[in-house]
Amino acid sequence: MLVLGIETSCDETSAALVAGGDTVLSNVVATQLDLLKKFGGVVPEIAARRHTELIAYVIKEAIDSTGKTLADVEAIAVTSKQGLIGCLLVGVAAAKSLSYSLRIPLIGVHHIEGHIFANTLSNPQIPMPHICLTVSGGHTMLLYVQGSCQYDLLGSTLDDAAGEAFDKIAKFLGLGFPGGPAIDNLSTRGDRKAFSFPRPLLRANTLDFSFSGLKTSVINAFKNKIADDEALPLEDIAASFQEAIVDVLVSKTLAAASQRKVSAISVTGGVSANRRLREVFLDTCQRMGIEVFFPEFSLCTDNAAMIAAAGHARLRQGEADDLSLDAFPNAPLEVSCGS
Ligand code: KG4
Ligand code: ZN
Repeated sequence: MLVLGIETSCDETSAALVAGGDTVLSNVVATQLDLLKKFGGVVPEIAARRHTELIAYVIKEAIDSTGKTLADVEAIAVTSKQGLIGCLLVGVAAAKSLSYSLRIPLIGVHHIEGHIFANTLSNPQIPMPHICLTVSGGHTMLLYVQGSCQYDLLGSTLDDAAGEAFDKIAKFLGLGFPGGPAIDNLSTRGDRKAFSFPRPLLRANTLDFSFSGLKTSVINAFKNKIADDEALPLEDIAASFQEAIVDVLVSKTLAAASQRKVSAISVTGGVSANRRLREVFLDTCQRMGIEVFFPEFSLCTDNAAMIAAAGHARLRQGEADDLSLDAFPNAPLEVSCGS
C-alpha cells in the first residue's frame, strides 16, 4: 500500500510517500529554523501560519519527486494527536481534503507512535518485545513494546522533556535554537566531569524522569561563576549537563529492560540524534549483551515518513478514520497498561 504521510504537529512541515510500510520513497521536510532563530523558539501561531503557506508545496514535492502521481496514493496518514493545535489542524485539514477528493482511506496517527515507527523504518529487525525510549522536545517516555502498536507505559517525565531541557539550557547559555544540536556540538570540546550536576530520580524506585531540578542547578552554577567573577567554561557546563541527562536516560532505560527481562532497546525522537547518548547506550548495551537500535539521523527529528509507517500499521489492523477526524493537542498515547 502506498501511503502519503503528513506531519505538521510543531515546527516542521513534512510530507512523505512510504510503500508497504517500510520503503521510504520520499520524505520532504520544510523546516522553520529561520523563524525559530528569529524568535528564539516556536511561536505557535506563526508556526501554524507557515504550515498553511507550505503544506501544498511540500505534499506536491513529496509526490512529484518519486515519479508517482496523486492517483497512485492509496491512503493518507496524518499526525492528529499531540502537538500544537493550530499546527495539527493544518495537516488534518489537508489530509481530510485529499482523502475526500481521492476517495481513499484516512488514518490519524499519534505523534509519539510516529517516532516509534521511525526506528522500525531504519531497523526492521528490532525484536519484539523491546523497551522503547522516546525522547524528544515534547516528551520523554519509556514504553514496553509488546508488538506492533501495543504498548505498556513504564515511565514518563514529571516536568520538562529531555529535549526541552536541552533547548532551555542552550537558550540560557546563549547557544541559540534548537538547543540539542548546539549542546551536542559544544560538549565535544568540554569536560563532562567539570561540574557534578544532579541526576534527578536516578536512585529512586521509579521509571519516571524529572529534569527541572537539573536545569535549575545548571543555571545556578552559571550564575555563581559570574558572581565569583570566574571564567565561564561554557563547553564544560554543556558537557557536564549533557552527561547528567545521558546518565539518567541510559540508566532508566536499562532498568526498564532488566525489569521486563528484554534484551533489545530502541531509542527514538529528536534527542536520539545526540552523539554522546548513542555512544553511552552502545558501550553499555554491548557490555550487557543488549541490542540497541537508533533511527538514521534524518528520521530522529519530526518527519512524515514515520507517520506514514505508523499509519500503514494501523490501517493493516483494520483501523481508519472518517472525515470527522479532529486534532487533539494533548491526547495520550493509547497504552494497554501503566507501570
Ligand atoms: O522529535 P523532535 O523533532 O520534536 C518533538 O517531537 O519534540 O525533537 C526536537 C528536540 C529538540 O528539543 C531538539 O533540541 C532535540 O530534539 N535534539 C537534540 C539533538 N537534535 C535534536 N537533543 C540533543 N542532541 C541532539 N543532537
Ligand atoms: Zn517529535
